[in-house]
Amino acid sequence: MSVNEIIKKRKSIRKYEKGAVVTEEQIKTILEAGMLAPSACNSRPFQFIVVRNREKLEEIMKIHSYTQMLQTASLAIIVCADLNLQNEISEGYFPEDCGAVTENMLLQATELELGTCWCGVYPKEDKVASFSKLFNLPENIVPFNVIAVGKPAEEFGSRGFYEEEKVTWID
Ligand SMILES: Cc1cc2nc3c(=O)[nH]c(=O)nc-3n(C[C@H](O)[C@H](O)[C@H](O)COP(=O)(O)O)c2cc1C
Repeated sequence: MSVNEIIKKRKSIRKYEKGAVVTEEQIKTILEAGMLAPSACNSRPFQFIVVRNREKLEEIMKIHSYTQMLQTASLAIIVCADLNLQNEISEGYFPEDCGAVTENMLLQATELELGTCWCGVYPKEDKVASFSKLFNLPENIVPFNVIAVGKPAEEFGSRGFYEEEKVTWID
């Protein structure tokens, strides 16, 4: 599959085959894709929490009501920013950095025929606080989002489309 085909295939998957096995190798391939994303000054200000424990997944659903797809997902990956890894120039760019990381991961999962759903945490202060508490995170680690991962029980297929009116051409 070309990158363009993968982009057009990806969509947020909210129904998964419950109990489907996602191998550690697949998880590491997805994590690696995230870690290969560009970041300001190559500061790589990220950390990942891989949650396969069902009780913890239940806890996540309790503190973030829009993560109910975790009922059937095989795991969740929490992308976190590490504020200590920013320097004077890259400071403040961590949302872009973590966003790029996340999209790489979603596309990589799609290539592996795995479904994902990006569930936002940062910058909602209440959610950041709840996740920090649940995972006992130090102050420099900011939970950025939760990515549900699993074997899709619904069709892939992009919901996005090209809109010429959103483009300004300057020749
Ligand atoms: C920053 C951000 C936060 C999101 N948060 C949630 C969420 O909490 N729960 C959810 O089900 N989907 C969430 N989504 C997924 C969007 O709803 C989804 O990407 C959008 O509707 C477009 O659909 P698609 O991903 O299938 O193209 C989020 C997406 C982004 C980029």
